[in-house]
Amino acid sequence: PVMNEVSGLRNLEEELKQKMQLQEVIIVPGDSDKAPYVKKEMGRACVSRLKKLDLSQNVIAVTGGTTLAAVAEMMTPPAHGEDILFVPARGGLGEQVENQANTICAKMARKASGDYRLLHVPDQLSEEAHQSLIEEPGVKEVLELIKSAGIVIHGIGDANTMAIRRKSSPEVIETLKAKHAAAEAFGYYFNQAGEVVHKVKTIGLQLQDLENCELVITVAGGSTKAKAIEAYMKRGLKNVLVTDEGAAKALLEGS
Ligand code: BG6
Repeated sequence: PVMNEVSGLRNLEEELKQKMQLQEVIIVPGDSDKAPYVKKEMGRACVSRLKKLDLSQNVIAVTGGTTLAAVAEMMTPPAHGEDILFVPARGGLGEQVENQANTICAKMARKASGDYRLLHVPDQLSEEAHQSLIEEPGVKEVLELIKSAGIVIHGIGDANTMAIRRKSSPEVIETLKAKHAAAEAFGYYFNQAGEVVHKVKTIGLQLQDLENCELVITVAGGSTKAKAIEAYMKRGLKNVLVTDEGAAKALLEGS
């Protein structure tokens, strides 16, 4: 039965890859909407995929979210004692402390026996304060490290869920609704066609920076996230998608 389950998942990966025109998909059993340990399984899969790369001298940028927190939980030191430096992908995005990229970045580094740098950018800044902050040497240094990241690991959220979780203003929520936002990733909101319809104002990694990365791992699962995953993946990125059976099946059932 175990063999059947494994080969069943490999088939599912192949089907999803074809249907969504993806470069690489890794599916773990279960549905993280129903069983929280499934997030940790995605975390484990993400970590082992990461370790296929030469991690020496690499900067890894990470986002926040409960899924990335599970990735951090499952992180282990690299096999050959490589030096890894973790940085948060973007500045303040209105998340609670435990979901913030900074928190996850520090935790990941600790688990990987690596190093980290944090980005201290408050969520609501005036244009003036923002400008002077990015000129600060400490902030500048971290921003350069983020731009140099060869690896990015990020989550995807359902647009509405994320807007509410971030306590976005009624105006922003209205805009997202009017523009049919479906997915969210590192502060960018996308419609079902994968077009950017809104962006949280903060510094750090920009969408176009992903094109220069050696590896981008997108970790998102749960059947309720299927539409969001589909929307974001419409961008046709070379990302490795780590997901679960719940999301995969919902994606394959959807038209
Ligand atoms: C945010 C990330 O913190 O978490 C996003 O910036 C991501 O990239 C979101 O979409 C996902 O959260 P969760 O809890 O569903 O993993």
